[in-house]
Amino acid sequence: MEVIETIKKTRAAIAKARPGGRTIGFVPTMGALHEGHFSLIKAAKEQTEFVVVSIFVNPTQFGPNEDIDKYPRPFEADVKACEKLGVDIVFAPTAEQMYPQENITWINVEKVTEPLCGKNRPGHFRGVATVCAKLFNIIQPDKAFFGQKDAQQAVVIKQMVADLNLPLEIIVCPTVREKDGLAISSRNRYLDAEQRKQAALLYAALQEAELFINAGQRKSSELISQMEKILRIGKRIKIEYISIVDAKTLDELDEAKGSSLIALAAKIGTARLIDNIVLDIE
Ligand code: PAF
Repeated sequence: MEVIETIKKTRAAIAKARPGGRTIGFVPTMGALHEGHFSLIKAAKEQTEFVVVSIFVNPTQFGPNEDIDKYPRPFEADVKACEKLGVDIVFAPTAEQMYPQENITWINVEKVTEPLCGKNRPGHFRGVATVCAKLFNIIQPDKAFFGQKDAQQAVVIKQMVADLNLPLEIIVCPTVREKDGLAISSRNRYLDAEQRKQAALLYAALQEAELFINAGQRKSSELISQMEKILRIGKRIKIEYISIVDAKTLDELDEAKGSSLIALAAKIGTARLIDNIVLDIE
């Protein structure tokens, strides 16, 4: 496995790997790798022949109140984990490599960036889409792998790839969960023992909605109030949003129907956690 910092060397290494029709798989990350990322790397290993993982804490997707300097950077451990999983290249650029001059060209995906997390994180998806477009141009993968936990991010990236005719396929892999259902995230490390216990209520609330849907309830307002009841059990949980939207367009639904995304965000202590489920409703 090679760990490469520069764009030029990464392009050369990938050009060497491509002949013979070898397919390139790409897993973009900000490091602090966990089981969720490992599942993406494993999927990339299964579906493509040469796997590139990027580790880059992208400054353009952090808001003014989000502390990029506090973002965990266990680089050595990340590299070891990639090596163990059979990754071919870790691309770990500096911010100067990725943004050598003032960036004045942005990818603004409209509409699907407005609801859900877009409401409270202005500019976040502009930064994500822009850095992903840059990374796709550098690596030119056949397939790129994203997690369903960041459901809105996956929708935004799919929309960008379709709208700009980018020659790659976006593969969205299932959310990896702890035994009690908590979606695995690098932010879980900020929870103390009591907060961690309460964090399991996020998935419990999503399951409650599924239960009510299976019993015939379709009204979003009813489903959301059932979910709120579950979340209120956790005194440390501050709900940011609970929404039921069309899984592809992210348009709000008054009634759950078709492919419906039930998504929530909540703050527990300093950690902002998100989770979701997608249900196919007749
Ligand atoms: O999901 C993430 O870790 C980031 O948003 C991504 C896709 C690596 C872009 O910086």
